[in-house]
Amino acid sequence: MTSPAHPKRQDWRNAAVAAADAAARFIAHESISRHTLAWEEKSATDFVSRVDVGAEERIRDMLTARIPGIRMVGEELSADAHPEQGLAAIVDPLDGTTNFLHGFPNYGVSICIALDGVPQAAVVHDVARGGVLHATASDGAFLDSSRLQVSATTSPARALIGTGIPFKDVSQADRYLRQLRRLMPIVSGVRRAGSAALDLSDVARGRFDGFWELFLNPWDLAGGVLLVREAGGRVTDLDGRDARLTSGAIVASNGILHDWFLGMLNEGDDSDPDPT
Ligand code: IPD
Ligand code: CA
Ligand code: CA
Repeated sequence: MTSPAHPKRQDWRNAAVAAADAAARFIAHESISRHTLAWEEKSATDFVSRVDVGAEERIRDMLTARIPGIRMVGEELSADAHPEQGLAAIVDPLDGTTNFLHGFPNYGVSICIALDGVPQAAVVHDVARGGVLHATASDGAFLDSSRLQVSATTSPARALIGTGIPFKDVSQADRYLRQLRRLMPIVSGVRRAGSAALDLSDVARGRFDGFWELFLNPWDLAGGVLLVREAGGRVTDLDGRDARLTSGAIVASNGILHDWFLGMLNEGDDSDPDPT
């Protein structure tokens, strides 16, 4: 996901920040009456409400008005659109829906403007706790107006690692649990906060030293990946290849710990099918 930065990327970032702000204000307003919301079932353990859809409608309307020719790839309204073709807005209107529905204050809006699959501009708006994280390719990542920098942690024993525990598709649960088991005694802590976009933001701002999840959709990861890279970190798949929008599995870190982290996640996985 690296290529020359596009001259319009600042305009795209500004449009994305404005659209995320409109969605965030809508979500914050609706959170007051969340107890009355109907939960619609996407799968047995995965729910959505009219708030996710309403937020995405606001983002779509603002982006299509401000960026001529943009294609929407949004979780709720255009999930089947290809994320790696042409100029596209990869949108998660509410990342952390389960948290939102329960009133657990960790959910946000993620928008990435990508050109042929390469992120050019991104915003992750932390709705519940506040803060707008944004980045443009080659120009750095920021929290509001402060430049972001990944952590300088060099010792795994001092590392705080974020993760996503499989819950929709648990076909890789054994592999995941083996990874977790290997990390548990070696790092300072492992956190499952429930919003991949905010988890990646937490790597970008140096709160987490690393993050991994075995399956994410393009809208979960696109914005956060640009934030981490522009803050000086590294994001790959489990094989150490630069992460793409369609990578699924993702490993992010401050860069310093990346090779160690990949090694831990992959250790013995081929040779020992179930050491637990
Ligand atoms: C989910 C969150 C969660 C991650 C899931 C995602 P949603 O997104 O990012 O942290 O573990 O894989 O699907 O459904 O709340 O937008
Ligand atoms: Ca999501
Ligand atoms: Ca979502």
